[in-house]
Amino acid sequence: MKLTILGGGGFRVPLVYGALLGDHAEGRISRVTLYDTDADRLTAVARVLAEQARGVHDAPAVVATDDLDEALRGADFVFSAIRVGGLEGRAADERVALDEGVLGQETVGAGGIAYGLRTVPVAVALARRIARLAPHAWVINFTNPAGLVTEAMSRHLGDRVIGICDSPVGLGRRIARVLGADPDRARVDYVGLNHLGWVRGLHVDGRDELPRLLADPALLGSFEEGRLFGPDWLRSLGSVPNEYLHYYYFNREAVRAYQDAEQTRGAFLRDQQEGFYARVKDPAVPALATWDRTRAEREATYMAENRDVAGAGEREESDLDSGGYEQVALALMRAVARNERTSLILDVRNRGTLAVLDEDAVIEVPCLVDANGARPVAVEPLPYHAVGLVTAVKAVERAVLEAAETGSRSAAVRAFALHPLVDSVSVARRLVDGYTKVHPGLAYLSRP
Ligand code: G6P
Ligand code: MN
Repeated sequence: MKLTILGGGGFRVPLVYGALLGDHAEGRISRVTLYDTDADRLTAVARVLAEQARGVHDAPAVVATDDLDEALRGADFVFSAIRVGGLEGRAADERVALDEGVLGQETVGAGGIAYGLRTVPVAVALARRIARLAPHAWVINFTNPAGLVTEAMSRHLGDRVIGICDSPVGLGRRIARVLGADPDRARVDYVGLNHLGWVRGLHVDGRDELPRLLADPALLGSFEEGRLFGPDWLRSLGSVPNEYLHYYYFNREAVRAYQDAEQTRGAFLRDQQEGFYARVKDPAVPALATWDRTRAEREATYMAENRDVAGAGEREESDLDSGGYEQVALALMRAVARNERTSLILDVRNRGTLAVLDEDAVIEVPCLVDANGARPVAVEPLPYHAVGLVTAVKAVERAVLEAAETGSRSAAVRAFALHPLVDSVSVARRLVDGYTKVHPGLAYLSRP
């Protein structure tokens, strides 16, 4: 099986390769092609992978190329993990929004819209190329904002593109563990959009254990989202939201904390990764050690900064052992390649699952996965408060897709103005002005 990684020079590619190295079963990935527009980053990451592979007898062969067509031909799976504009672009997405007094975050609110406007045209061009050169490949999209980008690509690839995120899986496992249940046997009732979903139940042997959690302040205080949102709010809501809903439910506090922070998350990651890509150029320095150290520092700071700001404290060691998104991706590939039926929370087209959204809207929902791909399972309808957020944000995503397709500036303004976390049409207009000024990639928004 051949896997192609778009954005193959990315900092997190060694995590994916590490997961592949642990898979020795029949039908596993035997060849990995890294594709990237930046040759230096490609060389750096290829060096890390070569060191990871040392001593592993069946390690997947690695090829690196900056020729897209060559990378795509013959691919069975394509991972899309690109970052249009790099971390410099992410830092600008955050800054412009915060200067305007609204949330500047990678995927949520104004920052997420700016990132979507920059990324969608590139993701669509890639999807078109994949549809031509590797029409039978399964495409797994990690590129954020993952739900929006998956929907953009699905217009060219249909249900062959599947979006993934580790956050709902991690949340389900944390809740199961707190309740003393085996995370692998619990069925999590979760639905929404990417970074905008709620756990409404956790079923073990046919019994819903979530009410027991919501009734117990001590249990609620014993895991990350419980501390993040607080027991009172979770009990009042009757569900456990994805951690990204903190930006909605505690928006003022989040904006203030981000404005007061010394650096935005994007700026921090930019500086740190620049350090890695610079150090790894020295052939005398072991590449893997350089990557490992930088990564460990990054994780530590992530926990300290982001979670403390919200009063959530540090993430427990066991909270991290669900393995992250590379494990979700590996589980998905296994199920498809070996026709091993499994259940995973993924970003796929709605197909009637949520009655308030049309068939083609990409949602995040538990799916049954096998050789035929991923099919959403039936779920309970959303309560009205969730319908409000989900439909409002889907309307924003549709405005972004329209702007990306037509180059219409007014569609871009509409995207910002309709977002629940942007409080004025005037602010939306200034955001479009501000973002087009700092992002050359938004020059396409040239039609009225
Ligand atoms: C979570 C999110 C991902 C995001 C990742 C890294 O796992 O679900 O969408 O890419 O965090 O976030 P960072 O701020 O480290 O780039
Ligand atoms: Mn995610």
